[in-house]
Amino acid sequence: DVLPVVMAGGSGTRLWPLSRLGYPKQFLALSGTTSLFQQAVQRMQALPDATLQTRAPCIVGNEQHRFLLLDQLREIKCEPSVVLLEPSARNTAPAVTLAALQAGADGGDPVLVITPADQTVTDADAFVAALRRAVQRAADGGIVILGITPTRPETGYGYIQAGATPADADAAAAVARFVEKPDAATAARYLAEGGYFWNGGIFVLRASTWLQALQAFRPDILDATRAAWSASKVDQQFLRPDGAAFAAVPSESVDYAVLERCPGSAVPLQMVPLDAGWNDLGAWDAVWQVAARDANGNASVGDALLHDSRNTLVHATSRLVSVIGLDDVIVVETPDAVLVTRRDRSQEVKQIVGRLERDG
Ligand code: GDD
Ligand code: MG
Repeated sequence: DVLPVVMAGGSGTRLWPLSRLGYPKQFLALSGTTSLFQQAVQRMQALPDATLQTRAPCIVGNEQHRFLLLDQLREIKCEPSVVLLEPSARNTAPAVTLAALQAGADGGDPVLVITPADQTVTDADAFVAALRRAVQRAADGGIVILGITPTRPETGYGYIQAGATPADADAAAAVARFVEKPDAATAARYLAEGGYFWNGGIFVLRASTWLQALQAFRPDILDATRAAWSASKVDQQFLRPDGAAFAAVPSESVDYAVLERCPGSAVPLQMVPLDAGWNDLGAWDAVWQVAARDANGNASVGDALLHDSRNTLVHATSRLVSVIGLDDVIVVETPDAVLVTRRDRSQEVKQIVGRLERDG
């Protein structure tokens, strides 16, 4: 059977000042009327067909967002099979490990469809079709990831070098190399060379495959996470790993801990191409990219007035914001903080948030 797993415990710092630690971006309605987290859950709810036995989703999130998680699940009438609440954020490798341990607790070995909660997809049918193909592949063992044709030398993604470019959308390709978040020069070289795909951040594999891969590459993460999971407390649909034990788990992403090490190892890594209007709303520029824009390329949310401006996004939450004669700018207004940035430098919001965290 199949178990969708939604990872929703990230901090979303690059979408500051709208995204805050207590209310990160995945819970915001940045595109449409539902939040990115709700959209991710709904995409998983569309997965079952006559042949796929699919369980209710497993949610892995952070203890401090439990009310947000519950409220948002209730709004979309989703009854999760379990909500794993991390006492601290240790990145995605421990999050997936908790889900895999829990999924195997009853002796089963479901295919996990692990999805982030910070993306938008425009073609729901193409998305489900690609995932079903990935599930079929992953049932035989191995890890299957989704590959997106890159359009710019983005440094915030993982890059997949396909062993042989899949001839048609139905094929899966062996992955020759996986490089997480290359620097700008390297990303530009990959784009020029061709044969590279962006990692869609979704991966599909059996619970046992994940535990074996982690045992091979990062037994320290597996052992530490297992210790925290074994001492979990259960409270209705919540499962809470032990706080002190989980704090000792190394903080690492799936991409660095496992995916980069698969090619050339005993753990096969395959890629299914995804062409479904995929977008990761990582930074403000991406929010502008997916927003409804007028003839001048402007987009606005809330009370905004733009005059003689182009390709500009204004997001106002509590006051009227007006801009004159600005091109390629992003303005985000909240009651206690305002951000104004060039669109092409919106990744650097991270630096501002870093300074705020240091200086208090
Ligand atoms: N439960 C839990 N715990 N979830 C987490 C944690 C955590 O500690 N940290 C992050 N997440 C969630 C985020 O909320 C998000 O939904 C997802 O895991 C991915 O984390 P990001 O931090 O957004 O990763 P990324 O965007 O930098 O990179 C990943 O996604 C890209 C595509 O969107 C990588 O897989 C890249 O290779 C990929 O290209
Ligand atoms: Mg992301």
